[in-house]
Amino acid sequence: MKLLVILVLALWMEGNVDGDECAAREYGAGNMVCVCNATYCDSLPSQFNVPDGGFLAYVSSKDGRRFYDITGTFQNTFQDDGRCCDADAVFTVNQEITYQQMFGFGGAMTDASGINIASLSESAQENVLRSYFAPDGSEYNMIRVPIAGTDFSTHAYSYDDVECDVELNNFTLAEEDIKYKSNLVKTKRNQKSADILLLGAPWSAPRWMKTNNQFNGAGQLKEKYYQVWATYFVRFFEAYAKENLYFWATSPQNEPNNGFMPNFIFNSMGWTNEGEANWVANYLGPTLEQSDYSNVNIIIMDDNRPYITTWAEVFFLPQSEELLLPSVAIHGYLDTSSDASVLSTVHNNFPDVFLLYTEACNGVQTNRVELGSWENGEAYAYDIIQVTNNWVTGWVDWNIALDPQGGPNWANNFVDAPIIVNATADEFYKQPMYYVLAHFSKFVPQGSQRIQLSTTDDKGIENVAFVDPNGNTVVIFLNRNDGPVSLAVKDPNRGVFNLNMDPRSIVSVIY
Ligand SMILES: *[C@@H]1O[C@H](CO)[C@@H](O)[C@H](O)[C@H]1NC(C)=O
Ligand SMILES: *[C@@H]1O[C@H](CO)[C@@H](O)[C@H](O)[C@H]1NC(C)=O
Ligand SMILES: *[C@@H]1O[C@H](CO)[C@@H](O)[C@H](O)[C@H]1NC(C)=O
Repeated sequence: MKLLVILVLALWMEGNVDGDECAAREYGAGNMVCVCNATYCDSLPSQFNVPDGGFLAYVSSKDGRRFYDITGTFQNTFQDDGRCCDADAVFTVNQEITYQQMFGFGGAMTDASGINIASLSESAQENVLRSYFAPDGSEYNMIRVPIAGTDFSTHAYSYDDVECDVELNNFTLAEEDIKYKSNLVKTKRNQKSADILLLGAPWSAPRWMKTNNQFNGAGQLKEKYYQVWATYFVRFFEAYAKENLYFWATSPQNEPNNGFMPNFIFNSMGWTNEGEANWVANYLGPTLEQSDYSNVNIIIMDDNRPYITTWAEVFFLPQSEELLLPSVAIHGYLDTSSDASVLSTVHNNFPDVFLLYTEACNGVQTNRVELGSWENGEAYAYDIIQVTNNWVTGWVDWNIALDPQGGPNWANNFVDAPIIVNATADEFYKQPMYYVLAHFSKFVPQGSQRIQLSTTDDKGIENVAFVDPNGNTVVIFLNRNDGPVSLAVKDPNRGVFNLNMDPRSIVSVIY
């Protein structure tokens, strides 16, 4: 027994942090952020140097580890005599059984995000964008861009607020696009491949196109403006194309259910599942088809998970053999009160439809920022593991940068974000959510494929595995227990390795 312990210990090489260290600051016991400013910002490893015959793992935890690296080796003694797998939980990787291919991870460049980033000095701005998009950052490859205003704006607006301008003569991008779109361009420069997937989504049509003549509240698109509203999308893509920004996909409407709720507090517009499907089939689809933007994918729903069953009813229009809408956008706000398996049910019924998470955040109930909250990071990790294990192909966070209040937001709908900007001090705070998202985005780039990871008893360890486009195996574990859990990971092609998980920690393993 003693010999075994020594053997296992010998397989551990003490870890350290690649890149610059976190400048830690506590906001209350156990709530830690990493502080960045104009001259200093911690970074993440820009490449993974996996040791020959071994594995590399990065750990972040409630007790303050941030991308702490560990290396170890596989043992060849791959007999099931219990010795090799002296662990609380044993997992088996099987690269032969494959599931969905991934599109990637990202966040939203809302007006609020752009305003906060621009409130910093030039060098601090650069550090925010590097943190998300550079090789030594989280390497996000998706950005959601609202089509005109949302609640995360300083006021409600559309791109054509001139009454009854049915020719869209007065269509013009907002000052917000002009000022903060430069962040998108800088983002492209920061990103290794410059290959960022842009996703559009409108929150509301101009007031004059709507039944209630308001940006918020219960209101729908007037039928006489069905074509004008489709043309408005093309005008938006044209305007962004002038800045060399091309969209990969758009949803027809953000959270269409909100537009049926009386007194709904921020920009909304209602579509039923059939209404939206018909408008897409007869207006938006054909209008894009005839424009220069026919390659923009249309992703329907863009609303919370429980609605997906009713939206699946309109994947095929009546008498249509072809899938009308090959993709569904899902929001995570009701994930804790609903079952992720509904995603697999939809996948099993419609294997060609891809499922993509396009919005989620913490702090909705509390209406505020919780600086340094590990629990908020943990909630992200738990959700991402749940949904990717149910065929979801990517996960896009909400605001990439908010102020310490969780705004600006004209409807006072303040929430939390992975990066909080303090303009007064010209510094920003990287929250646990930031690192947790990087535990996925850096290891599971576009083109990765989920593979089988099995266990007879997970001991409460959430888990998911992928093969990345370079053929590396990636395994991500989340320990939400207050105690440590020892793991053994078996790979029939390689052997077995042991890994001790700290209490309340996440680890990404690559080999
Ligand atoms: C920026 O952060 C570094 C590292 O924490 C610190 O040494 C430096 O004083 C900070 N600069 C300013 C202007 O606060
Ligand atoms: C709208 O556009 C028309 C034609 O270009 C122009 O004459 C008018 O002043 C514009 N209206 C506003 C409010 O900008
Ligand atoms: C933001 O910076 C100011 C000035 O240094 C400071 O007084 C304030 O406490 C900071 N806010 C947070 C949330 O750290």
